[in-house]
Amino acid sequence: MIKKISKHTTGLKGNIKIPADKSISHRSVMFTSLAKGKSLIKNFSKGEDPHSTLRIFKQLGVEAEFLDEKTLTINSKGTLHKPQDNLDCGNSGTTMRLMSGILATQNFTSTMIGDESLSKRPMRRVIEPLSLMGANIQSTDGHAPLIITGSNLQPINYTSKLASAQVKSCILLAGLNTEGLTSVTEPYISRNHTELMLKYMGANISVEGNTVSIEKSELEPRTIEICGDISSAAYFIVAGLIVPNSDIILKNIGLNETRTGILDVVKMMGANIEILDKQTISGEETGDIRIKTSELKGCKISGDIIPRLIDELPVIAVLATQADGETIVKDAGDLRNKESDRITATVTELKKLGADIEELEDGFVIHGKSILKGGCEVNTYHDHRLAMSLYVAGLIAQKEIAINDFEWASISFPEFETLFNSLM
Ligand code: S3P
Repeated sequence: MIKKISKHTTGLKGNIKIPADKSISHRSVMFTSLAKGKSLIKNFSKGEDPHSTLRIFKQLGVEAEFLDEKTLTINSKGTLHKPQDNLDCGNSGTTMRLMSGILATQNFTSTMIGDESLSKRPMRRVIEPLSLMGANIQSTDGHAPLIITGSNLQPINYTSKLASAQVKSCILLAGLNTEGLTSVTEPYISRNHTELMLKYMGANISVEGNTVSIEKSELEPRTIEICGDISSAAYFIVAGLIVPNSDIILKNIGLNETRTGILDVVKMMGANIEILDKQTISGEETGDIRIKTSELKGCKISGDIIPRLIDELPVIAVLATQADGETIVKDAGDLRNKESDRITATVTELKKLGADIEELEDGFVIHGKSILKGGCEVNTYHDHRLAMSLYVAGLIAQKEIAINDFEWASISFPEFETLFNSLM
């Protein structure tokens, strides 16, 4: 689907509720499915990725019933059964990598497959630690399909080269069903939703610095209410800052510190942004964010902040085109392994629009402020975050832009355009 976007001049105005966090939605289904009994999940994501996870647990014998569009019960015997067919993870790296840790300790063989993009993404990062625990995983040169024959594993004390919540969570999920103490240490702290939710469900899990340790534990069923996704809010934060005459409030946003790198960055750039009404919901911090159009200056983004804003970097690049001076993003080489090579994709497409942006091996440099001329077609690379970032760029481009394959936005955020329209 080609989406045409033209410049918005009258300003974004109003309040919107940001839909459920994708990372927390995946985990809510995975962990309640491992708990014997009935759990309730409120405000589950409508994104295609969390629904891939849900479909897989139904194939593994878990009962899921929707009470309305976003509320469901999960009824589990606490054990999973061998699936009849391949488990299709679709576009979702979180599903495939976290499921690897769960499937590696089951008493059956299963095969996980993914779409074209997921089949190209590196899986050695989970195969290696799981194999050190004794897991039996066959892949095609480190890529899906993954054929996993479950067994009893040995605990591990693993130091990861990557600050990746998917790798960390995979090992912790294998450790959850393995006798002894399993620990993972990462170079910088990545998102910690796994740790918080496993603790909330009764697991024996502890955190010390950059190390998380877990012992074999039984999870208890729970009610989990999912907060809004700061990675989805990011498109509105950036649009609110760069579309002239804007003043918007985003409600119900997850403010977990391992995810709020974008708030630190926009503050560093001089944004007029306020956090209101902080609360804690199901173990996660939440709040509302008010954003007004702001004069911005460039900044340097590198080191331990990177995992705290990894998914927001394409839209931060759009923001940086409207900031005075240089914005440098470094230490973000893993962006090349996301749903697309997000470094090359962001640089190529923003250049087409008229941005002054240079590609680095592990990031990019943007010289602002520049006028985005637009008047061209841009590509999403079938990557939801590129689709939504380019839409935001279209709101300030001088001439209409046409975004190819825009429907990929639904991977995480089917409500994206309707919510934008409600602010116009
Ligand atoms: C996620 C972790 C991140 C992120 C992805 C979701 C998760 O990946 O990019 O969109 O839910 O654990 P990495 O942990 O591999 O960086």
